[in-house]
Amino acid sequence: MIPARYGASRFPGKLMKDLAGKPVIVRTYEAAKSTNLFDEVYVVTDSQVIFDEIEKHGGLAIMSQKEHSCGSDRIAEAVENMDIDIVVNVQGDEPFTDRESLEKVLAVFNEPDADKIDLASLMAEIDDWNEIKDPNTVKVIVDKDDFALYFSRSPIPFPRDKNVDIKYYKHRGIYAFRKEAILDFYRLPMRHLEATEKIECLRYLEYGKNIKMAISNSGSVEIDTPEDLVKANKMLREKEPSKPSVNDEYRNFPMVPKVIYGAGCFETLPTILAKERKEKAPFIFLVDDVFESNTALVNRIPLRFNDKLIFISAATEPTTTQVDELVSKIKNEFINLPSGIIGIGGGTLLDLAKAVSIMLTNPGSAADYQGWDLVMHEAVYHVGIPTISGTGAEVSRTTVLLGPERKLGINSDYTPFDQVVLDPDLCIGVPKDQWFFTGMDCFIHCVESLNGTFLNAFSQSYGEKAYDMCLDIFLHDTLSESEARSQLMMASWHGGMSIAYSQVGVAHAMSYGLSYVLGIKHGVGNCIVFQFLDEFYPEDVKTFRKMVEKHKIKIPQNICKNLAEDQMEKMITVSMGMAPLWENALGIDWEQIVTREKLRDLYSKM
Ligand SMILES: [Fe+2]
Repeated sequence: MIPARYGASRFPGKLMKDLAGKPVIVRTYEAAKSTNLFDEVYVVTDSQVIFDEIEKHGGLAIMSQKEHSCGSDRIAEAVENMDIDIVVNVQGDEPFTDRESLEKVLAVFNEPDADKIDLASLMAEIDDWNEIKDPNTVKVIVDKDDFALYFSRSPIPFPRDKNVDIKYYKHRGIYAFRKEAILDFYRLPMRHLEATEKIECLRYLEYGKNIKMAISNSGSVEIDTPEDLVKANKMLREKEPSKPSVNDEYRNFPMVPKVIYGAGCFETLPTILAKERKEKAPFIFLVDDVFESNTALVNRIPLRFNDKLIFISAATEPTTTQVDELVSKIKNEFINLPSGIIGIGGGTLLDLAKAVSIMLTNPGSAADYQGWDLVMHEAVYHVGIPTISGTGAEVSRTTVLLGPERKLGINSDYTPFDQVVLDPDLCIGVPKDQWFFTGMDCFIHCVESLNGTFLNAFSQSYGEKAYDMCLDIFLHDTLSESEARSQLMMASWHGGMSIAYSQVGVAHAMSYGLSYVLGIKHGVGNCIVFQFLDEFYPEDVKTFRKMVEKHKIKIPQNICKNLAEDQMEKMITVSMGMAPLWENALGIDWEQIVTREKLRDLYSKM
């Protein structure tokens, strides 16, 4: 039995994440099944998504009640009316479950003391002190016959005497129960130790059950964090070298289905919206507050009935908290879901509009959906109207938000706009610095896509076009002002399309660190980083410097000069966490090129 909960608090949706071409839960199921040790293998889940996925792959799944607080309860409910002797619990996030481990945990029931055993589980030796003290690793100590004495997130035993040669064991989440034991567990209320440590098997010890531990040191990777997933993908690739890397797969991503283009086309907005208007349901316009005093634009926004206009500052990067607040404000004010969300502004406003439209129909916080394909329900109709070009936010399948734990996009099929209005005239009057920094975001998208290992003809076709347009706009003197505006609007679009089937690279990975720790805006952060990337993009950095010089742009300097040590550490961690970006830039073995020291060195120059 493989209990599988969709929402994991530390890494939401992890069981549906891609692991070398299949969701983690499918990998776990197939690993358990292929051991041939069981009469049947089931996934027991609260999630229709997981249920469907297992069935789609020809597996057996059972829907459980949602209220279960832990995997054992889920299993107990499922086996109550089954005719079985022993049930083995394999954690859904253990895709590398191997035959040897499962054999060991079952073998204890054939030993002489078998009648004393209520359940059996596995432990593996660990010797890295970082792992020993890591509260995410559950440690276990046993008596002379390998019956468990205690499980804890603290290092047990505590090494008061450093000279004693003591072995540490971590608990591996595989159990074999006699049927009575798991049904007992279901009936017995949780007690203090389990509640305090949040470790399920403490309940058995608290009620005096005997847990026999078997040792299995075979390599296991639990998927607890996004970093674990990267590690696991790597392990699988080493095991199955013929498998394509994640990025070689066919991906079926949505594009913006409707776009209107042309100077002055903003005038068509009322006609476009009229078709989408639902009774009593307002349109909500999220507008950059630089337009608050610009009556010329504000008067052209077609407010009807109970439509609402909200001005938002784009001075800082959009956050998950900001999205949550906007959503609750809208929900409190209106009984009906809005007819649509219209974002008018730069990347920040477009990202906010996408995120708000998603969060109006999905429960919880925007932070729960940061990642790939975590959004469950279709978003409210949403329209993007850029007033500054370069970010590609108008075409992308993501909405990048600063969350409590990371800066990451909500990347889903429901994220792209239903409609985009490209009116170059809306970009008249953008301050020169902003025009440049945002435009350079587009230039850097092209550089990173065209020089990346993920490059393919799809990305290249868009990237090369946008790259050339950027040179015409920012370097050659061949365009009139209005031509340059129109070109940049389309360069932004193409740059966005170029990274849709590829990835960005070094500048973005490092710029995310600057944004996260110092709140530096994306376009500015990219430029701060890019000037120091000669090693990675030598020719393009030269071109970039020429453009900076030509337009007399001052890029902020020495921003990392007085950085506290913990800020520097955090910045490096955030940047290193962007594994797909690094992998695109430098290939699978990027970690051999980019070390923490290397990043520290680079950041120190900025
Ligand atoms: Fe970007």
